[in-house]
Amino acid sequence: MAVEFSQEAETEFQDLLSRYPNNLAAMLPALHLAQREFGWVSVEVMDYIAQKLEVHPTKVLQAATFYTMYNKQPIGKCHIQVCTTLTCALRGGYELMEHLEDAFGIQVGETTPDGNFTLSEVECLASCGTAPMFQVTYSDGESEYFEDLTPERVDEVLDELNDKLTDLPAPREMH
Ligand code: FES
Repeated sequence: MAVEFSQEAETEFQDLLSRYPNNLAAMLPALHLAQREFGWVSVEVMDYIAQKLEVHPTKVLQAATFYTMYNKQPIGKCHIQVCTTLTCALRGGYELMEHLEDAFGIQVGETTPDGNFTLSEVECLASCGTAPMFQVTYSDGESEYFEDLTPERVDEVLDELNDKLTDLPAPREMH
């Protein structure tokens, strides 16, 4: 599949460029836009963004690999991002992670074979007052927080997510 912005994304990209003092400063929002457009940030997508920003590809690679918010591999219809920073860790974040690994039969960083769920570990999502928590990003671009979680509540959330799956678009193809 060719890596090229849709007309809508291209318009958004040009708008981004006009709002930043230089192309380098626009890199993070450009990568965010690319992730929304292509589903994940492959090497080909990084090259594409480098060309469009007229910067060296290693600059884009460095930014994309430094920030965990950019997905460097294809993700499932539901991307579950479990916070394991201090407050969440102290309140059971790792237990939730293990519970999810057992439920899906995968390890953190992996996607279920049916392409429905990807499990990731992330840094603080600024919801420490309702720890432990995770964020779910859906393949339609929407996302939501699930907070004050317990293993029992996680099971309920998984039922809700399974019900939602049929309404979600298929995960993006490899580039
Ligand atoms: S420590 Fe988990 S949201 Fe802040």
